[in-house]
Amino acid sequence: MDCSSNNMSDSVQTNGIDSNFNMDLSASASRVIPKGGMLYGEYLHVDRLLSCQEPVTAQTNNEVHDEHLFIITHQAYELWFKQIIHEIDSVRLIMNRRDVDEANMLIITSRLNRVVLILKLLVDQVTILETMTPLDFMEFRNFLSPASGFQSVQFRLIENKLGVKNELRTNYGKSHYLKIFENPKVIDLIRLSEQEPSLCELLQQWLERTPGLEKNEFNFWEKYKTVVMELLERNRTEADKETDEQQKTLLLDDWKRKSELFDSIFDVNKHNALMARGDRRFTHKALQGALMVSLYRDEPRFNQPFHILMLLMDIDSLITKWRYNHVEMVLRMIGAHQFGTGGSSGYHYLRSTLSDRYKVFVDLFNLSTFLIPRNCIPPLTPRMKKRLSVMEDIGENMNDSEQIVD
Ligand code: HEM
Repeated sequence: MDCSSNNMSDSVQTNGIDSNFNMDLSASASRVIPKGGMLYGEYLHVDRLLSCQEPVTAQTNNEVHDEHLFIITHQAYELWFKQIIHEIDSVRLIMNRRDVDEANMLIITSRLNRVVLILKLLVDQVTILETMTPLDFMEFRNFLSPASGFQSVQFRLIENKLGVKNELRTNYGKSHYLKIFENPKVIDLIRLSEQEPSLCELLQQWLERTPGLEKNEFNFWEKYKTVVMELLERNRTEADKETDEQQKTLLLDDWKRKSELFDSIFDVNKHNALMARGDRRFTHKALQGALMVSLYRDEPRFNQPFHILMLLMDIDSLITKWRYNHVEMVLRMIGAHQFGTGGSSGYHYLRSTLSDRYKVFVDLFNLSTFLIPRNCIPPLTPRMKKRLSVMEDIGENMNDSEQIVD
């Protein structure tokens, strides 16, 4: 067999590549393929993939070199978006059950961790496109209108599947974000992603079932509330005892502020009012679960759930970082006073998406406000210790009146 064959039929004709440089990307001619087997190029459809870059300036007399980078970058993003959706959907599927099998915890953490690593890549990827100068971008920008990243269906799917709330979105040119799409199939797909339970909703349902929240059992919330009230009372007493008037005022202000904050989680009506305003997203019960997992994360059964909460915060942070890097790049490329090719105010619209309104797991970040010192965490009863243990025989000889202090 002639391995050095330069038969044109073995080569793949790729756009814009001189025929002298044609490579045999499918490489199928030089090997005997085992029955049922396939080669790299066929399996990955490399020829199809590499024929998807069609710079619009290639049709003019003035092909702009950097348009190729612009296309490749966007396509690479879309491919990674597809993978993120694949992972998020699988996690949603596992979590969309009344009882999430704890054996699946490792799968959930590994897949969310994968999303985190992909997002890290995507955040950094912006810098490659930034090697294109605004002057170079100007040479082909006008050809792109009205194409815009705003029309990225997969980006909207990711947002909705994670749980970005529609009512918290910034209106785009005073209209709903869906208005930009024309294809009925695409509109249906995005609508479906709005209606299906988001990862955030499924997480809340799962957190609401956190062992230890049951009122007739460990009743974490009552125990936690008692400790917080004691701590606040101690603060108040210290403030009252202060003889320096200036210092006293400071301490009392601090006490008042803390009391109001804690009141907003103890008083369900206040919590619900914050939810209605969009300042809080988690249900009252889910917030309790998240707090319990955070405080007792050292207990074996809470190790993985705590890890999941951390990963979800990472995902939120990284998406915000991507938004930030993207908006900085937009500023660099077109400045703050040009409209986007998609018709928005451009930089100013994108700036608005950096706010907490676009964060999905904002309540997880805010949990830090409600943490209490380790030595004040209500001790677990032996029964609760056993429930949170992975060892069946722990506490076998203990009764509920004995308290384990960590
Ligand atoms: C020269 C580089 C880029 C410029 C100047 C740019 C500019 C813009 C502008 C002005 C908008 C606002 C919508 C509009 O009116 O068009 C936008 C939105 C968007 N762009 Fe880019 N973009 C660039 C690169 C990218 C890349 C590489 C991606 C990767 C997929 C991307 C994805 C998006 C997405 C998803 C939105 C919608 C964001 C949202 O609504 O929250 N952009 N872009």
